[in-house]
Amino acid sequence: MEDEMEYRRKERTALAVIVVLASLAIASLLVAFSYYCYIRNKVSRRLKNRKRVDHEDKGDSGNLQVTTDKGLQVFTFKQLHSATGGFSKSNVVGHGGFGLVYRGVLSDGRKVAIKLMDQAGKQGEDEFKVEVELLSRLRSPYLLALLGYCSDNSRKLLVYEFMANGGLQEHLYPGSGSNSVALKLDWENRLRIALEAAKGMEYLHEHVSPPVIHRDFKSSNILLDKNFHAKVSDFGLAKLGSEKAGGHVSTRVLGTQGYIAPEYALTGHLTTKSDVYSYGVVLLELLTGRVPVDTKRPPREGVLVSWALPRLTDREKLIQIMDPALEGQYSMKEVIQVAAIAAMCVQPEADYRPLMADVVQSLVPLVKCNRSTPKIGSSPSFHATPNSSSALPDPSRASG
Ligand SMILES: Nc1ncnc2c1ncn2[C@@H]1O[C@H](COP(=O)(O)OP(=O)(O)OP(=O)(O)O)[C@@H](O)[C@H]1O
Ligand SMILES: [Mg+2]
Repeated sequence: MEDEMEYRRKERTALAVIVVLASLAIASLLVAFSYYCYIRNKVSRRLKNRKRVDHEDKGDSGNLQVTTDKGLQVFTFKQLHSATGGFSKSNVVGHGGFGLVYRGVLSDGRKVAIKLMDQAGKQGEDEFKVEVELLSRLRSPYLLALLGYCSDNSRKLLVYEFMANGGLQEHLYPGSGSNSVALKLDWENRLRIALEAAKGMEYLHEHVSPPVIHRDFKSSNILLDKNFHAKVSDFGLAKLGSEKAGGHVSTRVLGTQGYIAPEYALTGHLTTKSDVYSYGVVLLELLTGRVPVDTKRPPREGVLVSWALPRLTDREKLIQIMDPALEGQYSMKEVIQVAAIAAMCVQPEADYRPLMADVVQSLVPLVKCNRSTPKIGSSPSFHATPNSSSALPDPSRASG
């Protein structure tokens, strides 16, 4: 009897040992299998990446699409070289602070503008990074889209959608610009461009968190597509300074002469209202057809804001400062309203300048057909008549 009990106990112990050992074996197998899967996954991912790079190195400009997590396309230098006909002079459409701007055609047929960083230029790789980082998270029909970039050692290139009619300044000041044929902008087109640019700025200031201050808003940074619809460009480059704690203030950070808000120029204190000032200067350009600073003019007329501001609220004087290229073909009522908005935007006291949302609100009723195909150089439907309006709009309508 005792033997039997002893035998049973041994049997139970043996069974327990077997169960424990079997469990351990299964657990080890599971661990080993998981590790195998993990390694396999890692290796296959690495192989995939290597294949992609090999593909790129071979310069396969055909169907290669490397897209970053930011939704931007990464191009090889070779791809952009062939898109621009070897960066041929005939494809140069402009030259700015970043470097030369080329027109190009990608292998899939898309027309693009390619900015090639001027290595000896005043802007560096940091600005390139900011442009890529910032532009990749902003999307608005009123902002120029960055399609991709190339960062090949010291060669940095930015690839944008192509704007067939170039910068606004080329049309306001024919002869100032690049290859595109300057076309006379009538009043209706000027109004629509003002509204679309205001919507771009409204997006930067009010629809993005934290707000983006453009810092270099000007007529050459308003680009026009084939139908003369406007988009704001170059805001990534302008944003850089604010991220450098205690960093030096470069000329780029200060923006462009004639557009800089007085308080920013004097104190370096930057707010969205500095952009509103620059926007007001562009409105003055649209009204008068004059550049912001013109050293060839008599001393009192050289600075557009100082010259125009006292004339904006006087109806008779306003007619005298209007762009002669408009040949008097505009609605005086609309001109008075735009002049009032411009006056509020360029006033020295930043707090009293309107918000861009207010500017948009004020311009919307003046623009007849939003986003339709504009008629360039066609007869406008309104003419300046001395009696078309009797009063300036209430400035409080547009103030913030
Ligand atoms: N996406 C584009 N499509 C077509 N033309 C463009 C495009 N981007 C720029 N350009 C042309 O190139 C010119 C130079 O542009 P760029 O932005 O390099 O310099 P900028 O605006 O004159 O000065 P800054 O460097 O201070 O912004 C523009 O005026 C325009 O004619
Ligand atoms: Mg520009």
